[in-house]
Amino acid sequence: MTRGFEPPDPFAATLERLANDMWDGPAGREPGAARGSMGVGGIPIDTIRADFPILSERVNGRPLVFLDNAATTQRPNCVIERVARYYSREHSNIHRGAHALAARATDAYEDARRETAAFIGAGADEIVFARGATEALNLVAHSFVKPYLKPGDEILLTALEHHANIVPWQMIARETGARITVCPVDDDGQLMLGEFERMVTPRARFVSITHVSNALGTVMPIREAVAIAHRRHVPVCVDGAQSAAHIPVNVEELDCDFYAFSGHKALGPTGIGALYGKASMLERGAPYQGGGNMIEDVTFESTRYQPAPRRFEAGTGNIAGAVGLAEALRYLRRIGMEEIERREDALMEYLLEGLRSAPGVSVVGGWRPRRVCAVSLKVDGIPDARVGGALDQLGIAVRAGHHCAQPGLRRFGVESTVRPSLSFYNTFDEIDALLDGLKGM
Ligand code: ALA
Repeated sequence: MTRGFEPPDPFAATLERLANDMWDGPAGREPGAARGSMGVGGIPIDTIRADFPILSERVNGRPLVFLDNAATTQRPNCVIERVARYYSREHSNIHRGAHALAARATDAYEDARRETAAFIGAGADEIVFARGATEALNLVAHSFVKPYLKPGDEILLTALEHHANIVPWQMIARETGARITVCPVDDDGQLMLGEFERMVTPRARFVSITHVSNALGTVMPIREAVAIAHRRHVPVCVDGAQSAAHIPVNVEELDCDFYAFSGHKALGPTGIGALYGKASMLERGAPYQGGGNMIEDVTFESTRYQPAPRRFEAGTGNIAGAVGLAEALRYLRRIGMEEIERREDALMEYLLEGLRSAPGVSVVGGWRPRRVCAVSLKVDGIPDARVGGALDQLGIAVRAGHHCAQPGLRRFGVESTVRPSLSFYNTFDEIDALLDGLKGM
């Protein structure tokens, strides 16, 4: 972390008191306004919010309250400016020009790869840029798993996966005669590790598992799951779309074989994301797509490919996106992922506490589990879309729908929910606005 100053002591004391207060119930609850001065890691919240121009927008005549951060986050000025600077001063194609601009663009792109790697504790050669987590997961399925599948082989998922971590596996299972197996979660949305262990059978070839459920916000025990799978020599891919910008992630500690995340959910541009693959894995993968940039030599008879990671980056990619993503990750690291996690945990505790006392509101997956970023709720007798629409009239943005996680919601007996989701730049006052909106339904 490169934050330039230490948090003042009173701030640390406030956080500690907040952590101790968390489950005191409504009697111990401070109004949001009293917490309004709290910042993130010693940086005043107003300073942080001033970095995000869109947060000053008005919607339907009200100040925007953006609580749809699981769908996408907003961008700080430094990312917007970095992308503009790239296009104004550095843009060219990469890896193949002999001129100065080509060198500038290549440097910016490869620097982005190093920054992305550092953000999750990987080596630079272990990062492949992709369109987002979805493309990264498709890449893993097609390049690293499909070539090794035989009829009857199993790909193990969990009941809480996003469609992006279901459909690609179904596609390759259909093509190869393999089958999908699904580890259940309990009523708290927690992975049933005993079942998981049982389901890593001798026919299991691959595990792909979300880090944080985008629908419920519950957190999967990745380290334990990876250890179980590895004891049986089964590689594990982690869908990190909902974790990368919310909790500290170190792929070496998780020991996963692959980790995929999207730039747009981590303050970066849309259309860019990253796939981490252990170097020993990446070496073994078949190219995903063919074209320029990924080749060393081509004849009409055969082609020699670049080593990883370039072997997996055919054509001209989203160079500006990668540069913008790196700036977003630098911004997150400057604040500090531990501080961000602490802030978002405090916001989430405050939200859950308020939801408990909101009449007619229930939370899918119950009150007990820890939630990261997102929580799914129902309002008794009011359709989700109407709740979402009524909140929108108040300037409050939440997602209402199936959240691209239909099997996970059906596990809990619902087809859709209302899903507020947080980022560190949200405030306690904004949560009060949401709670007031829900209470006024
Ligand atoms: N996958 C995104 C969400 O959870 C779009 O809303």
